[in-house]
Amino acid sequence: MRIIERVSEMQQQAEAWRHVGRRIALVPTMGYLHQGHLTLMREARNHGDEIVVSIFVNPTQFGPGEDFERYPRDMDRDRHLAEGAGVGVVFAPSVAEMYPDGYQTFVEVMEVTRPLCGQSRPTHFRGVTTVVAKLFNIVKPHAAVFGEKDFQQLAVIHRMARDLNMDVQVIGHPIVREEDGLAMSSRNAYLTGDQRAAALRLSRALDEAESMALGGETRGAVILEVVREQLGSNGEVRIDYAELRDPETLKSVDEMKGPTLLALAAFVGRTRLIDNRVLRCRAR
Ligand code: PAF
Repeated sequence: MRIIERVSEMQQQAEAWRHVGRRIALVPTMGYLHQGHLTLMREARNHGDEIVVSIFVNPTQFGPGEDFERYPRDMDRDRHLAEGAGVGVVFAPSVAEMYPDGYQTFVEVMEVTRPLCGQSRPTHFRGVTTVVAKLFNIVKPHAAVFGEKDFQQLAVIHRMARDLNMDVQVIGHPIVREEDGLAMSSRNAYLTGDQRAAALRLSRALDEAESMALGGETRGAVILEVVREQLGSNGEVRIDYAELRDPETLKSVDEMKGPTLLALAAFVGRTRLIDNRVLRCRAR
């Protein structure tokens, strides 16, 4: 497995692969890899001959006071995990390589970035779309695989790729969970034992809502009341949002008429966790 740190070297490698008809599949990450990432890498093998994993903690998607500095990093461990997952190249640029002096260009998707995480992290998606657009130009992938835990991120990237005619197939992969239901995330590393237990309230709230929807409940307000109760807003857990949204447009849903996204974000201690599920109505 090769580690590439330079943009120009990655572009040359991508060009060489394309020249001989190799398909490139990219898994963009911020590192501190876990089983969820490894599942994305396995999925990538279904879409490309050459698998590239990018590892870059992207400063432009963190707001002031967020966890950019303390975001967990372990390049040696990541390298071994990626190698074991059959990755050919890890692209791991420095911040100066990605955002050299004089940098001043950003990609901004409008409506779909406004609600949910966009409310509490107003500059976040601009940073995500900018770095993902750059990664697409550098790695030149035919396909790119993203986890559905960041459901809004995936919707935003789909929109960007469609709107800017990017010739990349954007693929979503279902959330990977720990055995007890907690959605895998590099930020789980921040949780203390008690916080880890409290964090389970997110997946339990999703389970509860799913049972209600399957049981025939379609009223958004009724479902969300139970979800908020289940999350509880005391002690360790503080709800950031709990909302029902159209899975594609992310417009708010009051009454479920078809598959509906239930999106959650909550602070457990200082750690902000997100989780979601697409709820299905009972067949009529
Ligand atoms: O989902 C992530 O880890 C990041 O937002 C991404 C897509 C790698 C962009 O930095």
